[in-house]
Amino acid sequence: MPHHSSPITHHGSTRICVIEGDGIGHEVTPVAVEVLRAVAPDLEFVHAEAGWECFQRRGTAIPEETWEAIEGSDGVLFGAISAPSARAPGYEPVIITLRQKLGLYANLRPVVSPPLPGYRPGVDLLVVRENTEGLYVGREKSDGEAAVAERVITRKASERIAHLAFTLARRRRRKVTIVHKANVLRETCGLFREAAFRVAEGFPDVEAGEMLVDAMAMWLAKAPERFDVVLTPNLFGDILSDEASVWGGGLGMAPSLNLGKGMALAEPVHGSAPDIAGKGVANPVAAILSGAMLLGIHLGREEEARRIKEAVWEVLGEGYHTPDLPGEEGKRVDTARFGELVCERLRGKGWA
Ligand code: NAD
Ligand code: IPM
Ligand code: MN
Repeated sequence: MPHHSSPITHHGSTRICVIEGDGIGHEVTPVAVEVLRAVAPDLEFVHAEAGWECFQRRGTAIPEETWEAIEGSDGVLFGAISAPSARAPGYEPVIITLRQKLGLYANLRPVVSPPLPGYRPGVDLLVVRENTEGLYVGREKSDGEAAVAERVITRKASERIAHLAFTLARRRRRKVTIVHKANVLRETCGLFREAAFRVAEGFPDVEAGEMLVDAMAMWLAKAPERFDVVLTPNLFGDILSDEASVWGGGLGMAPSLNLGKGMALAEPVHGSAPDIAGKGVANPVAAILSGAMLLGIHLGREEEARRIKEAVWEVLGEGYHTPDLPGEEGKRVDTARFGELVCERLRGKGWA
């Protein structure tokens, strides 16, 4: 994949801002940092805090020094944050604020068949999710009896995300499925669809198809190998990427990269997983592979990214796994041990 967003380096070395966030973010992010350090010892890491725990402790979800740390960095490695469903006055989900403020207009969420027992082979798809607008603009109001949310779709943002999707498809199987619900949401999804097909005209070598989001949910469950690049507005992409992750081994295996001009933020698709947080059992693969996406796509260090993926695949292929994955009990390991196995593998290959 092309490194679409060349970082602006403000200093001699390449600096990554690490934000663990909440819950299992504290467990999987340090493992991802260790793996990045192993393959790319020149990287410099700065740590900053943000999230729900930070908000409760300090009254601010993203402190000023965190913004400064991000600004002084070439990319961000993010764990996960909690975004409670109950009302929490003054708290906005941190990841949404970061995406919007940092202009991270695209969210790339790949899913590939894993080397795990019982998994369906042949799945290799990339969800390209619009990341700044749609129902995520935060324009909701309620008088207690009726609540209204505004869904904003602009031609500019739709063309920008479509352009990236078609560009990425050229490096893959040259097929883009435009997902929408233009049969009902005639104006918003209608504009998204129209903008995407307009962009498609500039890519005659890429097959452009479309699918209504409800049918897409069905086909993703029935025949995931049919899809290459899946281009979607924000909320549909959120839902479909969790669904698609099942084919890749589940949320513990699903990486993502939020990409903008000159900045990128790597984050697993999963959240803070309060049901398993603090137990040391979270699967760190999503976080590790998110780090690899930051390295390969954003920083242009494709060889090092490839090495990380290969090491992770080999460790999984030998049967080592965290409890969310199937496998022999004797090869069940915890979060930290899985990370060590990946680093040992990298050293064994002379890559660390
Ligand atoms: P979740 O993604 O945190 O967890 C869903 C399920 O997947 C849980 O059973 C969890 O144990 C499992 N899971 C997730 N990651 C795993 C891993 N690495 N290894 C093993 N199992 C894993 O979703 P949720 O429970 O609906 O949400 C929890 C909190 O996270 C909420 O506050 C939500 O708003 C937030 N959230 C944040 C992000 C983000 O930071 N990008 C993403 C999704 C949800
Ligand atoms: C994700 C998450 C976020 C989203 C939440 C936590 C705001 O689910 O990154 O997929 O909806 O985008
Ligand atoms: Mn989500």
